[in-house]
Amino acid sequence: MHALSPWARRAVAWGAIGLGLATGAWAQGQWWAPLEAKALANAVSGVGNARNLVDANCMPCHGDSGRGDGPAALALPPPKPADWTSDRVQQQTDGEIFWKITHGRGVMPAWKHLSERERWELVNYIRSLNPRGASLPQPR
Ligand code: HEC
Repeated sequence: MHALSPWARRAVAWGAIGLGLATGAWAQGQWWAPLEAKALANAVSGVGNARNLVDANCMPCHGDSGRGDGPAALALPPPKPADWTSDRVQQQTDGEIFWKITHGRGVMPAWKHLSERERWELVNYIRSLNPRGASLPQPR
């Protein structure tokens, strides 16, 4: 084994940065809701009309079963539409999920025009997809 020349090392570093930019990993890191969103209380029970709202508004990106594999997801650059059944999504509080649905980020649209009740029902619907069922992992 011989050490890489300084030039080669630089090329490797720039290559990594280029890859990061191309995949969007550097442009947008993990998406955090602000602290105050975490404690927002969910006073709405049930999913109401959420399934229809999902079919009409979310399915193209998040997929029929919410796994982030909708038909439009293929064409989108990262960050890809979230998998609602993942621990990463399910471990957030209702308030954090509500806040993200409300505000959006990047290609994820903001859904402020839906009523608050509808947005909470979407949160409850996403909750119902938790593969761990009732044994919800505790929010961070
Ligand atoms: C045009 C594609 C698109 C549509 C339509 C869309 N989303 Fe998203 N969604 C995304 C993308 C992309 C992300 C990841 C954004 C990021 O990480 O920056 C995302 C992330 C999310 C997250 C955050 C998960 C996390 O990372 O914590 C939630 C919740 C969510 N979407 C809910 C919805 C709901 C509910 C609808 C329909 C009312 C919807 N989305 C419609 C593309 C979409």
